[in-house]
Amino acid sequence: MTKTKLSKKDAPKNILDKEKKLSNDDFIVSKTDTAGKIIYCNKIFTKMAGYSASELIGANHNLIRHPDMPRIAFKLAWDLIQDKKEFFGFVKNLSSDGSYYWVFAYITADFDENGRIISYTSFRRKPPQSAIDAIAPVYKLLVNAEKTGGMNASLELLGNFLKENNTTYEELVINLQRGA
Ligand SMILES: Cc1cc2nc3c(=O)[nH]c(=O)nc-3n(C[C@H](O)[C@H](O)[C@H](O)COP(=O)(O)O)c2cc1C
Repeated sequence: MTKTKLSKKDAPKNILDKEKKLSNDDFIVSKTDTAGKIIYCNKIFTKMAGYSASELIGANHNLIRHPDMPRIAFKLAWDLIQDKKEFFGFVKNLSSDGSYYWVFAYITADFDENGRIISYTSFRRKPPQSAIDAIAPVYKLLVNAEKTGGMNASLELLGNFLKENNTTYEELVINLQRGA
C-alpha cells in the first residue's frame, strides 16, 4: 500500500512567533517535479523544515508555505520558472513545529537534452537581517491586499511600490540581498 504523503493540510495550525535562523554557511537545496512535488532535499532542508526526508519526498512544496507569504510571490516564481527564467526572492517558510525561517531563494528549471523542463531546483541562503526588515512589512501589505482584493489588488500594490521606489522587482531583491 502506498503511504499517503504529507500535504498542506498536515502543516502545523499553531503558527508561532518563533524564528529559526540559518547559519551563514548553510545552503538549503530541494528539487521538485514539474507539479511542485519534492523529489530531493538536502539535510539542512529537513532540519529547518522539521520533517524527515522520507516525509518530504513526494510531498507538495507548499507543505512549508507560511501564511505570512503573499500569493503573488509564488505566482511570480511559477510564471518565471515555467517560462524557463530564474526566480530570486525572500521566502518565509513554516517549520513543522510552527516556527519560521527566512531564506533568500533562487529557483530555476532543469532541462532534458531537448530543452524540455523535467524538474525544478531551488537553492537558498541566509538573507541579511536588513532585507528581512525591509521585505516583511511589504509582504504584510500584500497579504492584506490579497485578503480583500485578491491577486489583482496585490499586483497593483506591488507595481505602485516598485514605481514609488523607482526600481524593478529583480533590482529590489538583489540590492536587499547585498544588504544595500
Ligand atoms: C523548486 C521549488 C522550490 C520551492 N520552494 C518553496 C519553499 O521553500 N517554500 C514555499 O512556501 N514554496 C516553495 N515553492 C513554491 C510552492 O510550489 C508553492 O507554489 C507555494 O508554497 C504556494 O503554494 P499554495 O499556492 O498551494 O499555497 C517552491 C517551488 C519550487 C518549484
